[in-house]
Amino acid sequence: MSSHEESPLTWARDHTPILASFQEEYREDAPLDGYTVAFASHLEAKSGVAIETLHAAGAEVLFAPSEPQSTHGAVVDELDSRDGITAYAWEGMTDEEFDEAQHELLDEEPDFILDDGCELIAKCHAQHPDLAETVIGGGEQTTAGITRLEAMDEEGILEFPVYGVNDTPMKHFFDNVHGTGESSLTNIAITTNSLISGKDIVVCGYGYCGRGIANKARGMGGQTIVTEVDPRKALQAHMDGHRVMDMDEAAATGDLFISATGNREVIRAEHFEQMSDGATIANSGHFDVEIDLDALSDMADDVSSPKEGVTRYHMPDGRHLNLLAEGRLVNLTGPYSQGHPAEVMDTTFAMMFMAAYDMLADGTDLEPGLYNIPDRLDRAVADRKLETLGLSTESLTESQQAYYEEWEHPDSSF
Ligand code: NAI
Repeated sequence: MSSHEESPLTWARDHTPILASFQEEYREDAPLDGYTVAFASHLEAKSGVAIETLHAAGAEVLFAPSEPQSTHGAVVDELDSRDGITAYAWEGMTDEEFDEAQHELLDEEPDFILDDGCELIAKCHAQHPDLAETVIGGGEQTTAGITRLEAMDEEGILEFPVYGVNDTPMKHFFDNVHGTGESSLTNIAITTNSLISGKDIVVCGYGYCGRGIANKARGMGGQTIVTEVDPRKALQAHMDGHRVMDMDEAAATGDLFISATGNREVIRAEHFEQMSDGATIANSGHFDVEIDLDALSDMADDVSSPKEGVTRYHMPDGRHLNLLAEGRLVNLTGPYSQGHPAEVMDTTFAMMFMAAYDMLADGTDLEPGLYNIPDRLDRAVADRKLETLGLSTESLTESQQAYYEEWEHPDSSF
């Protein structure tokens, strides 16, 4: 029996059937031919398949990381070796190199920007204003990026239209809830080699990601606690069966803390003060600002690493607190992290592809601003996903359709 070396993309390709169907459908006509698409994301096998899908549809692709520590070098090398794909990335980049590489990419004047965290789009507007005037459009993958884009839109400074891909159902119902939920817990369990079951698990934020993490942690036997700033989300967490507390009480109660708010300093000095010896802290939010790392360093009088991916802060009172993945995205930047399952990224990257396809190939012409992805595109990707899963749906009958459209029902009494 012979054996051969597989591409680092093989496994992800096997589990991204929508992207495979796009490659098959668009390879011959190459509808993105003539366009240069900038792509920022965590760079590993699944985003590698997204990049090769854009390329298969005819685009020249320039790609950069959206977080310096989540890059898989073998994937970058394989893609960078192909004509028409250029990497502005390597494994182990510093934060400064990450910034520089994104500027170098923007110097190549892409036509379209598919972003993750709004890093490229923000840099384009702040430091490459001439480019911002010529870019046709963009798409944004994550909640943290949408927050920044909303601020840019509010200020009226966006120079081109951007699809808020994160806000489309085919993205956040699956990627944020199930992808972040499963991959955060999986990576925490592998990194710590500890049980979720039986632990007091504090989840900060009960948005899409927090809901996924909390509900799955409870499914694994965790005693879940939720902290929130939005009273409706807090109530929802309560009705879903989680304990709801303010962060002061949660800090004194929890064994494991996972922050997923998209906000800063959610876990800070006054909370570290109250945590019990051996407490473990992780971040699932996009930026490494959710845990106040400076305060943690200032409070500790010694630091050590008992295990790869775990930084132990030794407090003067004898307690130690364990920080995972240096407070960066725990599901993407830890030593064992592989990000979301491929089946989930299939839908996310399919929606990113649709954002580019709609404005470039279909020629949808929009004024500068932040837009929702048209519902027809979201439904089309949902249909395609169901098809790949061999699942079918009901169709509305004519009378059902009419029933939806008429306000005066035929059997009503007036
Ligand atoms: P979301 O907006 O649906 O939920 C965030 C929740 O946090 C909101 O309910 C908000 O009220 C709450 N919150 C804000 N400040 C808080 C505080 N100080 N304490 C407690 N709760 C607070 O956002 P979503 O989609 O859940 O995303 C959350 C973060 O996760 C974002 O940074 C997003 O970019 C990131 N993300 C990470 C992924 C990963 O792979 N780890 C994947 C997708 C999103």
